[in-house]
Amino acid sequence: MKKLFLILFSLSTAVAGAQSRQTQDFDAGWKFYLGNDSLASNITYNDAKWRSLNVPHDWSIEGKFDEKSPTLQAEGGLPAGIGWYRKTFTIPSTSKNKAISIVFDGVQHNSEVWINGHYLGKRPNGYISFEYELSPYLKYGGKNVLAVKVDNSDQPNSRWYTGSGIYRNVWLVTSAQTHIAPWGVFISTPKVSVAQAQVSVQTRVDNVQALKNIEAKTAIYDADGKKVAETRGPIDGPDNEGGANQSLTIAKPQLWSVSKPYLYTVTVTLVDSKGKVVDQVSNKAGIRWFDFDADKGFSLNGEPMKIQGVCLHHDAGALGAAVYKRAIERQLQIMKDMGVNAIRTSHNPPAPELLDLCDKMGLLVMDEAFDMWKKKKNKNDYYKEWDQWHTRDLQDQVVRDRNHPSVFIWSIGNEIREQFDSTGISITRELVNTVKKLDNTRPVTSALSEWNPDKNFIYKSGALDLVGLNYHQEVYADLKKHYPGQKIIGTEQVSALMSRGHYDMPSDSVRMWPPDAKTKIKGNPDYTVSAYDNVAAYWGSTHETTWKLVKKYDYFSGMFIWTGFDYLGEPTPYPWPARSSYFGIVDLAGFPKDVYYMYQSEWTNKPVLHLLPHWNWKAGQTVDVMAYYSQADEVELFLNGRSLGIQKKHGDDLHVKWKVKFEPGVLKAVSRKAGQTVLTTQVVTTGQPYQIKLSTDRSAIKAGGKDLSYVTISILDKDGNVVPGANNLVDFKVTGAGVLKGMDNGYQADLEPFTSSSRKAFNGLALGIVGSVAKGGSISVSATATGLKSANLTIQSR
Ligand code: GAL
Repeated sequence: MKKLFLILFSLSTAVAGAQSRQTQDFDAGWKFYLGNDSLASNITYNDAKWRSLNVPHDWSIEGKFDEKSPTLQAEGGLPAGIGWYRKTFTIPSTSKNKAISIVFDGVQHNSEVWINGHYLGKRPNGYISFEYELSPYLKYGGKNVLAVKVDNSDQPNSRWYTGSGIYRNVWLVTSAQTHIAPWGVFISTPKVSVAQAQVSVQTRVDNVQALKNIEAKTAIYDADGKKVAETRGPIDGPDNEGGANQSLTIAKPQLWSVSKPYLYTVTVTLVDSKGKVVDQVSNKAGIRWFDFDADKGFSLNGEPMKIQGVCLHHDAGALGAAVYKRAIERQLQIMKDMGVNAIRTSHNPPAPELLDLCDKMGLLVMDEAFDMWKKKKNKNDYYKEWDQWHTRDLQDQVVRDRNHPSVFIWSIGNEIREQFDSTGISITRELVNTVKKLDNTRPVTSALSEWNPDKNFIYKSGALDLVGLNYHQEVYADLKKHYPGQKIIGTEQVSALMSRGHYDMPSDSVRMWPPDAKTKIKGNPDYTVSAYDNVAAYWGSTHETTWKLVKKYDYFSGMFIWTGFDYLGEPTPYPWPARSSYFGIVDLAGFPKDVYYMYQSEWTNKPVLHLLPHWNWKAGQTVDVMAYYSQADEVELFLNGRSLGIQKKHGDDLHVKWKVKFEPGVLKAVSRKAGQTVLTTQVVTTGQPYQIKLSTDRSAIKAGGKDLSYVTISILDKDGNVVPGANNLVDFKVTGAGVLKGMDNGYQADLEPFTSSSRKAFNGLALGIVGSVAKGGSISVSATATGLKSANLTIQSR
C-alpha cells in the first residue's frame, strides 16, 4: 500500500514588511467598453467616454436573457461578444530598477494584453492564471496604460455559463530584479508521522546572475506565529534560473484535516551577502497524509473517511462569474454545514480564493483541468486551442495549485471524448506525465463516463492512479470484479433535478426527465421540477439511490454530487425560458432544497429533523409527507394535535413518510430517542401574503467595494409564516454606503435580469445581494411590494 505523505502550501502571499516585494491589488479604476475597437490598444487612445468600473467584472451577467443569444440556452442565453478594458496608472521613478509584473487570476476569454501600446501576449483559456512582465515597457515617474481585449464572441464555446471579462482579481507585483519566480516555492513532505514531518522546500529564483552570493532563509511558523523550523542555504544556478532545495523538520506537527484545518506559514527570504533582504514570499501550509485503498477506500491522516463531495461550477448565481471572495465563502459555508467535505472544481481550474478558503475551512479539492481535449463538445470550444496551449495550461495549473493542502486529486478531464478511441491512450499518458513531473504527491484521475474498463481508452492507458467514475450507479455492486485491485472514486454522481419548494405527487414514483437521449418531456407548464427527490436525468438517479450505494461499498472512496448549487446554464430537462440548472441541492440564490437536510442527517453530527412539503393544499387532498431525521429512533407526526402515527427508518432508509388527508392547520413532527424528545418542527397552513421580512447573513461588512451582505426577502402572512406559493413582485432599494449587486429568487425560468432592482418572489423567497462601496457608513435597505407591509434593514459597512 503506497501512502501519500504530503505537506502542502497555499498560493504565495507577499509580505510587504520587508519592502522587498509589493503585491498590489490592481482591481480599481478601470475603463470598460463593450464592443470592439482595434485602436484601443494605443497609448494615446481616448477612453474618456468609456464606463468606469472596478474588476472583477463580468459583463454577461449585466445583460438580458435572450433565447436568440449566440451563447444558446446551455450557456444561459446571456450576451457574450467582445469587450475592452483600459487602466491608466503611474509607476514611481524609484521603481526603475525593479521587476514589475501584472498578474491576472483569470480572464474569460481569449485575452490579449498591451502595455503602452506594446503587445504582451494572448491567453485563450478563460480559467487559467497568467502574468506578464511589464518592466521593460514602463514609463517610470510617468503615466502608463494597460489595455486588455477580451473576446468571448466565438460562440458557442461552452456547455455552461462562462461569463465574460476580467472576472477574477488582478495584481501588480513589484520585486527586485533577482526574485523568487512566480509560484516559485514548492513544498512537500517526503515523510510525515505523528512524531515529525520532514519538509522539503524548493525555491526557484529568476535573474540569479544579476546578484551573486544570495541565500534563501526559510522558516516555518505555527498558527500562533511561533517559529518551529528554519534553515538557510545558497541559491545556485548556472544561468538566470536558479534555486535552492531545502529540507526542514517539524517535531510533533499539527495535522491538517477537514475538521481541524491547521495551517502553518512558510516564509522564504532571499538575502544578499550583506544580509539585506532581496525578496520574501510567504505561503500558508498544511501537513497531512492520505491514502486511497482498493478495498477500504479513502483515509485522511490514517482515519477512514468517505468523500462526501459536490461538484461546483464557478458562477455565483446573480453575480455571474465575477469573483467575490465572500460569495465563494458563503457557498462553501452552506456546503460545509450540509456535511460536505470535498469540492470538485468542475470542469476547470478555480479562482485562487476558492483554494485559499478550502485550505482554511477544511474542504478537500479535486482540482480539474479540462472538459475537452482534442475532440470538441461545442463548435468553438477549447479543442481549437488544444495543440498549442494544453501543456502550458496544465503546467500552470499544477504549479499554481500544488501548495494547497486542500487539493488532493488532479483531474485531467471530464467525460473526455477520447475515452472512446485509442487516441485516449497516448493523450492520457502525456497529461499524467506533465502533472507528475511537477507534482508526484497526488493521484491523477479523469472523470470517466464509459464505465466498462474494456471500452475505455483513458483507463486502458494504465496511467491513472485512481479510477474516477461518473454515474453508472447500476454497476457499483460489481466494480471490484470489473476493476480488480484498482482504487475507485465517484467523480460525478446523481444529477437529480428539483425546484425549491415545488412538490409533485406521488413522491415515490420516480420520473426520469428526460427518460432517454431522444424523448422530450412534457414536464410542468411553469418549468418547475418536484423537490421530493423524485426526478432525475436518465443518466443519473435520485439522491437517495446513489448515496445508499456509495455508503454501502467501502471500496468506493466517495462521491461528488452533481451539483451542490444550481448554476447558470444547462437547464436540463426544459427548453427556453429555463436558463439555469435544476441539479443543485441548493438553489441559485443559496436557499437549500429539501434534500439538503437528507445529506445533513447523514453527513453531520448535528441532530436533524426536516419536514416536507409545506402545508397549503386543497381540503381533502391526500398529501405525501416526508421527514429526514438523525440521532433519533423515530418520528411522530401530528395534525392539529392528533397523532398520525410513529415512523422509523428501517434498513437503509433515509427518510420516513406518511400519506395524510389534508386539512388546514398545524402539521408537527417530533423526533425521539429512547422516548425523549430530540427535536420538533412544524409546517402550518398560512394565510395570504401580508408583509415582507428582511434578514441578512451579515449586518456588518467591510468597506472597500469587495464585501457582500446577502439579504433574504421573505413573504409572510399576518402571523409571520412564509407563504409557500407567494410570488409577489418586490422592489428592493439600497441607499447610503452600499449598492445593489443583484437579485435572485432561485427560479430557473425567471427572465428578469439579475441586475434589476425588482424581482418576483419564488415560493415565498427572494434574495438581494448588497455590496459595500469604497467608503464605509450605514447602508439602508428597503423592500416594498403592492399590497404588502414593507420592510427595512440597516447594514453597517466599516
Ligand atoms: C455530466 C457532465 C456535467 C453535466 C452533467 C449534467 O455528464 O459531466 O458537466 O453536464 O452531466 O447531468
